[in-house]
Amino acid sequence: MSLRASRKIKFVDADILVIGGGFGGCGAAYESRYWGRDLKIVVAEKAHIDRSGAVAHGLSAINCYMGMQWGENQPEDFVRYARGDLMGLVREDLIYDIARHVDSTVHKFEEWGLPIMKNPETGRYLREGKWQIMIHGESYKPIVAEAAKKSADVYNRIMVTHLLMDATRPNRVAGAVGFSVRDGTFYVFRAKAVINAAGGASHVFRPRSVGEGMGRTWYAPWSSASAYALLLEAGAKMIQLENRIVLARFKDGYGPVGAWFLLLKTFVTNAYGERFEASWMDEIRSMVGKYADVTPLPTCLRNHALLQEVKAGKGPILMHTQEALDTKEKEDIGWEDFLDMTIGQAVVWASQNIDPKETPSELITSEPYVMGSHATCSGAWASGPEDCAPADYQWGYNRMTTVEGLFGAGDTIGGSAHKFSSGSFTEGRIAGKAAVKYVRDHAGTPPQVDEQQVERLRHAIYQPMDTFELGRNEIVAGSVAPGYISPLHGLQRLEKIMDEYVGGVSMFYVTSEPLLNRGLELLHMLKEDLDYLGADSLHQLQRAWELHHRVLTAEAVTRHTLFRQETRWPGYYYRADHPKLVDPDWHVFTSSQYDPQANEWQMTKLPVHHIIS
Ligand code: FAD
Ligand code: ADX
Repeated sequence: MSLRASRKIKFVDADILVIGGGFGGCGAAYESRYWGRDLKIVVAEKAHIDRSGAVAHGLSAINCYMGMQWGENQPEDFVRYARGDLMGLVREDLIYDIARHVDSTVHKFEEWGLPIMKNPETGRYLREGKWQIMIHGESYKPIVAEAAKKSADVYNRIMVTHLLMDATRPNRVAGAVGFSVRDGTFYVFRAKAVINAAGGASHVFRPRSVGEGMGRTWYAPWSSASAYALLLEAGAKMIQLENRIVLARFKDGYGPVGAWFLLLKTFVTNAYGERFEASWMDEIRSMVGKYADVTPLPTCLRNHALLQEVKAGKGPILMHTQEALDTKEKEDIGWEDFLDMTIGQAVVWASQNIDPKETPSELITSEPYVMGSHATCSGAWASGPEDCAPADYQWGYNRMTTVEGLFGAGDTIGGSAHKFSSGSFTEGRIAGKAAVKYVRDHAGTPPQVDEQQVERLRHAIYQPMDTFELGRNEIVAGSVAPGYISPLHGLQRLEKIMDEYVGGVSMFYVTSEPLLNRGLELLHMLKEDLDYLGADSLHQLQRAWELHHRVLTAEAVTRHTLFRQETRWPGYYYRADHPKLVDPDWHVFTSSQYDPQANEWQMTKLPVHHIIS
């Protein structure tokens, strides 16, 4: 009996479907329930909501908190900060909207049981930096997930593969389909509004970790670009996908640096003990002009200085932990930073006999990631808040994409950098409230699922298992299969293309028009081969669809990078053929819209409005 024939179908009807139960998704579920007490709210999560997404392992800080009740910061200050860090190109309306609501989110987290560190002298939250506060955050995710579980029907272990569109209105979402990665059941979610909160993307570019260690990356290895691919295939307008992020991290374990730089005031030198950042400032100024004088120095430019130093042969770059950990309290904070958030880094210390109290640690830049919630803002073009978005930034409902009834939050939404965990949850709340209003306003015209589309997708989704069933008869020498391509081989091919042609680590993040065009040719061939993916299990079937999502997102990143003829963020990537920043032409968002039927991309520029002086 064929695997496909034995599979069950389950229909789930919802008023609001949330895809992804991470930080954006939990916020969306919580707030949808608050405003829509009588509505059916459903979350479809590909892992288990208690420990899913980028916060699965816990965190040690909340990186977006104003502290308004103590007069620490105002939302306008935050907009200036995020705008400076992204060198001018952000959606100020969206950032302002998050900043004005984020404190209430953090207060809820504390009420729900999240231990937030306190400053013994002031009684306020212990600041890591101007925008960040310290938490005992190993259990951050299960605490936040509980609120979502109480608000919605959560379907765990459902990998959403495609959105469904209305049978008669091509630009109106009608739900989504996917499959259970545990028992293979085909799920059809019919929904009046959909909130995509499926997180960002690692493993689009080849990681520095290779071989059996390739699962070790900074952004979660299971962040697989569904946030972008689902929207692209639905024809949503996207922005800033060229704005991939590269991060300075502790080498090999990818331990984050924020607590070290900001709270512990740890300093960095080259191998010769020299503090090098200042020595690169003239060069940086010649590339980016006034953006070099932003305080703090934009994240990408900090990377640039580090990279130049490495290229000059002055590595390894060293984080002098031994100078910072001079008290027991600081030593505890240093270890807890990693044990709460990136245990792998503590394991590197243990395995390499590094006592951070005695020995400095190496820093290095990571491979690029595609995200919308850190010091980067790739994602969907979304309608802004009614009270402060400029007219051409709003078309009805806050955080609705250009597809009717389709909303987003967290990494999904473009233009609003620096939201991190708390801001992503807050954006989920904003989207949830707007989606409830949308559902109520359109109660008389619910979408109709196109049954032919459902049937087509049901067939397509399980194809890799059928391909394997046939292809395995030809397997030679263990796993060598002439008849199909495995998800891992496909992933490695994708990562090699992106690394070598689109500005990955092996190229020191350099690319150019000829390289990008060749990359597109190779991506095209890879896409052709995706029809021959083989999956020997449901787990591999999930990997196959994750690969589909990563490849489409990779193509969008490549096309955006080609379209933007400047180097705006040196340290994230370099267009060798356009090495400078060109504000008169490029003080704009790059935008793409994919037409899946015609397989065509439309690239345009969208205006950047500054609403905060
Ligand atoms: P996520 O929280 O990743 O949620 C996405 C969800 O979608 C996941 O649950 C995933 O399983 C699910 N999903 C994906 N695809 C599908 C699909 N096809 N079908 C169904 N479900 C799907 N932030 C801070 O505030 N402070 C910090 O100190 C901090 N440190 C960090 C350290 C590390 C190591 C990492 C990785 C992140 C850190 N962040 C920190 C950032 C923070 O985790 C993210 O900004 C935030 O989680 C983004 O929220 P999101 O909802 O967009 O994505
Ligand atoms: S995390 O998300 O993995 O925790 P990271 O450790 O890089 O990120 O940064 C945490 C916070 O500190 C972010 O808000 C980041 O922008 C900020 N940060 C990190 N390093 C610096 C620095 N050298 N100067 C200013 N801000 C920094």
